[in-house]
Amino acid sequence: MNSKISFRDVVKTFPLKGESFTALGGVSLDIADQEFVTVVGPSGCGKSTLLSMAAGLQEPDSGGVLVDGTPVSGPGPDRGVIFQQYALFPWLTVRQNVEFGLKLASVPTAERRRRTTQAIDLVGLSEFADALPKTLSGGMKQRCAIARAYAVDPQVLLMDEPFGALDALTRVQLQDQLLRTWSQEKRTVLFITHDVDEAVYLAGRVVVMAAGPGRVHRVIDVALPYPRTEEIRLSPEFRRIRNEVWTSVYHQEAPPRAA
Ligand SMILES: Nc1ncnc2c1ncn2[C@@H]1O[C@H](COP(=O)(O)OP(=O)(O)OP(=O)(O)O)[C@@H](O)[C@H]1O
Ligand SMILES: [Mg+2]
Repeated sequence: MNSKISFRDVVKTFPLKGESFTALGGVSLDIADQEFVTVVGPSGCGKSTLLSMAAGLQEPDSGGVLVDGTPVSGPGPDRGVIFQQYALFPWLTVRQNVEFGLKLASVPTAERRRRTTQAIDLVGLSEFADALPKTLSGGMKQRCAIARAYAVDPQVLLMDEPFGALDALTRVQLQDQLLRTWSQEKRTVLFITHDVDEAVYLAGRVVVMAAGPGRVHRVIDVALPYPRTEEIRLSPEFRRIRNEVWTSVYHQEAPPRAA
């Protein structure tokens, strides 16, 4: 397989009460170019840690993370990251927050304006373009963070529970809009979620992780066609896959207790 992102036997430990806690105990996973992969698993199984290593924000203790065959050595404009906790600059407006990454990438002013407006439009925040984050709801802040990642137009989107704080309707709208963007622009997406329905609806493959230590428990293929529709969401095959994912997340054997 021609891998876009490759995790090779990734081990990550953190110091804990004078000892070492193994957050990831050897994770190997290959994600093909233009693939949409979702990751589910119990809280604390290392999903965010795994994603942050692809983002170049943390390094593995051993093993490696490759993007396009090159070891990740730090963040880069080829990878857009949307964090579990929205990270906006409080002193900048919605527009300025979205524009920020484009400025860093030295995108010329007119192009910057165009892409910023388009991304803000896409997440439905046009009316709030000049608002400061403190005046927005949680869901609106998260939509602003999503717009900021979209505006940079990265080849790889690394998304950590990006829709977790949103109401059900906005969530479904942004899922469909993300799928449209993905199918038009052919990006590679690694998407973490707690929501099993969301994991199945979006993905070509669902990675189920287990804890103690964090590892890949199962990889489940979602053999449903794109574009995904309401009809697919309600189909027996969708329900079957959803139940399979659900069972492997919630009926995992209890992890061995940390000493
Ligand atoms: N910087 C850190 N220092 C110490 N321990 C950490 C650090 N980051 C993560 N951990 C530990 O590593 C484990 C995995 O954390 P991680 O945030 O990756 O889990 P997660 O699967 O994303 O969980 P959730 O679903 O709750 O977001 C947890 O036990 C956490 O306490
Ligand atoms: Mg997390």
